[in-house]
Amino acid sequence: MKNPPRQPDITGVDLFCGAGGLTHGLQKAGISIAAGIDLDPACEYPFTANNGAAFIEADVRDISGADLEKLYPAGAVRLLAGCAPCRPFSSFRRGRRANSSRDGEWGLLGEFGRVVQELNPDLVTMENVPDLASQRPFHIFVSELRRLNYQIDFRSVYCPRLGIPQHRRRLVLIASLRGAVHVPTGSVQANRFATVRDVIDRLPSLSAGESDTDDPLHQARGLNDTNLRRLRASRPGGTWRDWPKELRAPCHRRATGATYQSVYARMEWDAPSPTITTQAYNFGTGRFGHPEQDRSITLREAALLQTFPRRYRFADPCKRFSAQTIGRLIGNAVPPRLAYFVGKEIRRAAVEPRRRKRSK
Ligand SMILES: C[S@@+](CC[C@H](N)C(=O)[O-])C[C@H]1O[C@@H](n2cnc3c(N)ncnc32)[C@H](O)[C@@H]1O
Repeated sequence: MKNPPRQPDITGVDLFCGAGGLTHGLQKAGISIAAGIDLDPACEYPFTANNGAAFIEADVRDISGADLEKLYPAGAVRLLAGCAPCRPFSSFRRGRRANSSRDGEWGLLGEFGRVVQELNPDLVTMENVPDLASQRPFHIFVSELRRLNYQIDFRSVYCPRLGIPQHRRRLVLIASLRGAVHVPTGSVQANRFATVRDVIDRLPSLSAGESDTDDPLHQARGLNDTNLRRLRASRPGGTWRDWPKELRAPCHRRATGATYQSVYARMEWDAPSPTITTQAYNFGTGRFGHPEQDRSITLREAALLQTFPRRYRFADPCKRFSAQTIGRLIGNAVPPRLAYFVGKEIRRAAVEPRRRKRSK
């Protein structure tokens, strides 16, 4: 009988690593991460404390393939993972010209492509906003990978299909010089989606402004009297239209409805949450009200909805932390559960031998 193919050791480097959502999921799938690189020093504590990997505070634009070579152990199958920040693509949409200069709007995706070219890793993965797939910088990135002989798959993934309790859609790309790759899109049916109740129901109850003494991240932001009254008048899954007229803001009174439809409302218990943003702990920035308690969700709840484990530490317990910083790290992260499925697919493809270079 033929032996099953040996699972090789895969080592990854995570560019734009943030607090380590992507790294955490890849590690859970059995991929070792040698280092994460990010220019934000706030990423160091969560990245290293939870993942045991090195953190390199650097600008990816200053990193070369030769710098990265040194991070991989000899003989390992090399993975380069990364999520170039997606904000530039909103300005891209606003019509400002893109270029690859240091301040270029899609320069960071271009930089990721440059590093792939210099390092020539066995496998590459990237995650970003779905809109990116229709943008020229992405098409250039993909054609460059094809020119380098990578097999590629990219898809918009709807997170609830992978058991993630959040209506988030992400563009995921996997490229391989080894076996063929297929982005995991999940198979969970709508009646089985993980819900807000599944992940936050058992946390201690809080009022606005109150904190859990055992978990500094389970702290509800204070609300002024008007917002407290608005929250009390909000229905789970509703909008500001549920409020009495006197509680509506001038912009609501003027608006036709479309733009302001979703701000200021409560989450629903028995559905996935809205997309967790960097401001998810703030009732005024989305449907981030708790389903029944009169407060916005806490940073801990936001992290759980992003599928970070409850024990994930975002801030050094010996230092004061800023909610704004932790909110940014949580909202920017790739849900670890999404990364886990990507990691499993990478492991499957890594079993195949590396393809030979195409002859010119
Ligand atoms: C979308 S977040 C990455 C989230 C991360 N993959 C995770 O799962 O937690 C993008 C990150 O890119 C970082 N960043 C932005 N510009 C950078 C640059 N030029 N060099 C290195 N990191 C950069 C930001 O600080 C931010 O942490």
